[in-house]
Amino acid sequence: MARIPYKIYLSEDEMPKRWYNLKAVMKELPTPFIHPATLKPCTAEDLHPVFCKELVDQEFNTTDQYIDIPEEITEYYKTYRPSPLVRAYSLEKMLDTPAEIYYKFEGTNTSGSHKLNSAAAQVYYAKKQGLTSLTTETGAGQWGTALSMACAYFNIPLKVYMVKISSQQKPYRKAVIETYGGKVIPSPSDTTEIGRKILAENPGTGGSLGCAISEAMEVALKTENCRYVLGSVLDHVLLHQSIIGEETRIACEKYDINPDILIGCVGGGSNFGGLIAPFVGDKIAGKNNMRIIAVEPASCPTLTRGKYAFDFGDTGKMTPLIRMYTLGSGFIPSPNHSGGLRYHGMSPIVSKLYHDGYFEARAEEQSKIFDAATMFSRSEGILPAPESSHALKVAIDEALRCKESGEKKTILFGLTGTGYFDLAAYMSYNDGTMTDYIPSDTDLEKGFASLPEVQVRF
Ligand SMILES: Cc1ncc(COP(=O)(O)O)c(C=O)c1O
Repeated sequence: MARIPYKIYLSEDEMPKRWYNLKAVMKELPTPFIHPATLKPCTAEDLHPVFCKELVDQEFNTTDQYIDIPEEITEYYKTYRPSPLVRAYSLEKMLDTPAEIYYKFEGTNTSGSHKLNSAAAQVYYAKKQGLTSLTTETGAGQWGTALSMACAYFNIPLKVYMVKISSQQKPYRKAVIETYGGKVIPSPSDTTEIGRKILAENPGTGGSLGCAISEAMEVALKTENCRYVLGSVLDHVLLHQSIIGEETRIACEKYDINPDILIGCVGGGSNFGGLIAPFVGDKIAGKNNMRIIAVEPASCPTLTRGKYAFDFGDTGKMTPLIRMYTLGSGFIPSPNHSGGLRYHGMSPIVSKLYHDGYFEARAEEQSKIFDAATMFSRSEGILPAPESSHALKVAIDEALRCKESGEKKTILFGLTGTGYFDLAAYMSYNDGTMTDYIPSDTDLEKGFASLPEVQVRF
């Protein structure tokens, strides 16, 4: 076998033509969304006022293992994909490990992350349906940027409710989003009923993704021919992100790479769900016994310390009830947390797979995340996004474990993006002012207190 190159690029012709629908291969499906008023499973019609029709169909599709990627989306994907699978030779050397380390690098587009994979698909379907505007929320800003890029390409106006603390920490994100034509509104804002209510109750709040989702949904519901789009959590977002896993699988097959350990970071679960899709699909079918690890921040420990319960996806309690790992929709992460991944809930698919034991989860503190990010930037040359560095941190830990044991494992992780807009966080790490925060059980109890009582009926 020829030496594995630093970067494995597929040709455009080798790009996957289909997304991988995990629900078609899961032994047990995630619990459907529950309508909070009827306490019955939501129907497609319940979701049509909020989401684009085709996306709702994808959300409800539990039978087709593969779903064709429309030609127009593939054309757009080709502007920044296929993304490379990189052999981290320099990191391996720095760690002096016998392990082989690979990363799938999704930071090769201007949004700086994997988010464009779903943004492209969602905006395409919105345009096809004849919608005339879209709303969304964004936390760190990658999703807002990705969506504004896709909206510019398919020519649809966009309003972005951006978590206030992030908009203050990352003013340049706003500039990029606006350059692509998106309108940025720091959330909570006085432009919506729910925003005004949240501000009245908690005037100094830096906001949360849950608040921003409520505001964006309210505007979509009140604006004619407008829909809301979400950048993570939902099954159709994971479906679009499966392009990451499918490309990885093809690249691995080309060079006979067989990962022993697959690692991804989890916020709402979309990149992780997308990266692991074909691999966990094979694991479910008994074709591999790969170790799969999800990594989350210790300050927002949804999988490791959350409850598997019915909860709302947003603070304003406008979404259906979703059965997922959650810290409670009232959970607001500490403002000192700059590593992203601060959503209170988790994708229902990822939650169910975790509940059924298909992967492990780890929670990591942010100063350790930045130790890993610094080590990576100095060896591999890429300045990683703090979110991605969660996966990177555990990849390094596993590689060092191999060094101790002398094992030559193959470790593959998702490097979801770049950290050029996270320089304030890098500065606080570099000047030693970065602090860690792990919520106490009492802190978490406050979030759990916001869980809807109806859950006891299920
Ligand atoms: C670079 C990057 N990686 C990972 C995530 C986590 O999101 P998800 O869990 O949906 O992949 C985000 C979310 O903002 C991100 O920007």
